Amino acid sequence: MNGGPSTLNDAALMSRTDTAVAQAIDAHGLPDALAQAMRYAALGPGKRVRPTMVFRAAQALGLDLHAAGSASAACDAAAAAIEMVHAFSLIHDDLPAMDDDDLRRGRPTTHVRYGEAMAVLAGDALPALANDLLLAVEPAPLACGLAAELNRATLDMIAGQVRDTFPDAVPDAAEPLAALRTTHRLKTGALLRCACRMGGRCGGADPAQLDALTRFADAAGLMFQVVDDLLDVTSDPATLGKATQKDAAAGKRTYPGVMGLEGARVEAQRLCDRALAALEGFGPPAEPLRALVAALARRQR
Ligand code: IPE
Ligand code: IPE
Ligand code: MG
Ligand code: MG
Ligand code: MG
Repeated sequence: MNGGPSTLNDAALMSRTDTAVAQAIDAHGLPDALAQAMRYAALGPGKRVRPTMVFRAAQALGLDLHAAGSASAACDAAAAAIEMVHAFSLIHDDLPAMDDDDLRRGRPTTHVRYGEAMAVLAGDALPALANDLLLAVEPAPLACGLAAELNRATLDMIAGQVRDTFPDAVPDAAEPLAALRTTHRLKTGALLRCACRMGGRCGGADPAQLDALTRFADAAGLMFQVVDDLLDVTSDPATLGKATQKDAAAGKRTYPGVMGLEGARVEAQRLCDRALAALEGFGPPAEPLRALVAALARRQR
């Protein structure tokens, strides 16, 4: 039995992820104050979208998430590792030198809670810990493949943050929409693509399957940031758990800014459809992955 949406719900996947994250942080004898800030950032009330995508991509290939074994354990490590890199990206994204946000996941941001220096250090430590976790995966070739995926995606995410933070300093001759798409693909799409590809690797994807999962994730990842841009304009802090109306005020390039609200909504739906089309060859085991992208298109937070 491969496990449909009802056999392992999202709460169970989130709890598997959080257990692996907590164990990784605790296993390293890190200074207490650092470990506390890392736990705050990585185990707070977020959606765990990237870990869920790891699990659902592996499941799309027929992996039984309930079965004990190295593939299922590799999924846990990959899920925890991608969430740790995501948490690092959020800590640094919220810093005064970056987006200067005080609210994240309905709580004070890590630097507001623990001070800027500790927040920077917690952010620094998380990707190293993520790598450590992946390198312990068995068999070793899978470990190397997962670590290579995550390192590349981390660098892409940082490159995207540079483009987002210094739009005029990064030369891009492309027209505004194409340049924005590149930024979004990098700053946000890269980690979602990595999540899907890591799930694919854990599930034993062949090259054609990995390619299809990558096409799925490229569309889903871009859609995710289009929706994030929309929610910045249309939502409120109580619903979203983070400040709103920030992007235009900060002079950010966004989808609603370039195409208007309705244009951005149409674009999000178009990207969702494109993501679903990439999964056509996968059949019923990909149903939870399809349901995930559809839920992300409709999300309110
Ligand atoms: C927020 O990501 C940052 C973006 C890339 C848009 P999420 O919306 O996944 O944040 P959490 O993890 O649920 O808080
Ligand atoms: C964040 O983009 C992308 C990364 C953290 C890599 P945003 O700056 O739009 O994310 P939020 O809106 O603060 O969550
Ligand atoms: Mg930002
Ligand atoms: Mg931000
Ligand atoms: Mg945003």
